[in-house]
Amino acid sequence: MVFAACESADKRPPTASPRKHAKKYSAADNSFCYDCHINFLFEDEEIALVHERVGIGCTHCHGKSIAHRNDEDSINAPDVMYPRAKINPSCMMCHPGNELIEEDAHRPVLSGAATQEKYCTDCHGDHRLAVRTRLWDKETGELVWDDGVRVEEGLWDEGR
Ligand code: HEC
Ligand code: HEC
Ligand code: HEC
Ligand code: HEC
Repeated sequence: MVFAACESADKRPPTASPRKHAKKYSAADNSFCYDCHINFLFEDEEIALVHERVGIGCTHCHGKSIAHRNDEDSINAPDVMYPRAKINPSCMMCHPGNELIEEDAHRPVLSGAATQEKYCTDCHGDHRLAVRTRLWDKETGELVWDDGVRVEEGLWDEGR
């Protein structure tokens, strides 16, 4: 598909998704996740915030994660995690290839063959944790490693 009007002010092809103009979005409420994941808010992280503004919250992509968010020791995994191979397909459910702007950077992801090496989140946002205190198997949710630190009995309640 060729977008003749790609040079228009916002570089967006005229046939780009009507989503953007279709309705006014109300922002998602991510406050319960920010209780612990405040870094995304502080760092103005693109994946979290761009989607929050259009009503797509953490739970839309990671599930309600009740067991995870209610666990003060955070031993329970979130409901939905993303092994590398699942990143691009998940983004492309809403940003399909034919709606992605014509951008050199997008060629590798659109050519299909190279999708295993270039992920949307390599370039968009800073939506990874550099330092980990817990690690789960992203497919099964099984805790595979943790730093051993636990909230002491009662400390959590006093702290609040
Ligand atoms: C549009 C979907 C989407 C939204 C919205 C979203 N995430 Fe994510 N999240 C992902 C994907 C995909 C990954 C995997 C990124 C990667 O590995 O590069 C991820 C990764 C993460 C990670 C890091 C995992 C790691 O291995 O470092 C954390 C923590 C996280 N998300 C928490 C959140 C929180 C908290 C929110 C809300 C503030 C949120 N996410 C909003 C899709 C989303
Ligand atoms: C549930 C649908 C949905 C999913 C899943 C989703 N997005 Fe979005 N995304 C949107 C909507 C809606 C917008 C705001 C309107 C627009 O620009 O299309 C948006 C906006 C964006 C923007 C900003 C576009 C701009 O106009 O500034 C980027 C970049 C983006 N998404 C990347 C991603 C990436 C990377 C992933 C996968 C981690 C992802 N999105 C997953 C729906 C989604
Ligand atoms: C190699 C880096 C790279 C990769 C990988 C990549 N993008 Fe992009 N993307 C860009 C650049 C550069 C732009 C244009 C500048 C900008 O708006 O950030 C862009 C623009 C966008 C936009 C429009 C943003 C806007 O402001 O209009 C969306 C949506 C988007 N990309 C989604 C995705 C999705 C979904 C994937 C994975 C299938 C992906 N991108 C993979 C670099 C990349
Ligand atoms: C009680 C604190 C707490 C709350 C509340 C919380 N999380 Fe977490 N979350 C954690 C901790 C701790 C980790 C592990 C981070 C690390 O390794 O240091 C984590 C990791 C994650 C990851 C990374 C999983 C991966 O791929 O490795 C995701 C995704 C995530 N949380 C999503 C959410 C979502 C969505 C919410 C809101 C529904 C939420 N969290 C609420 C404490 C919390």
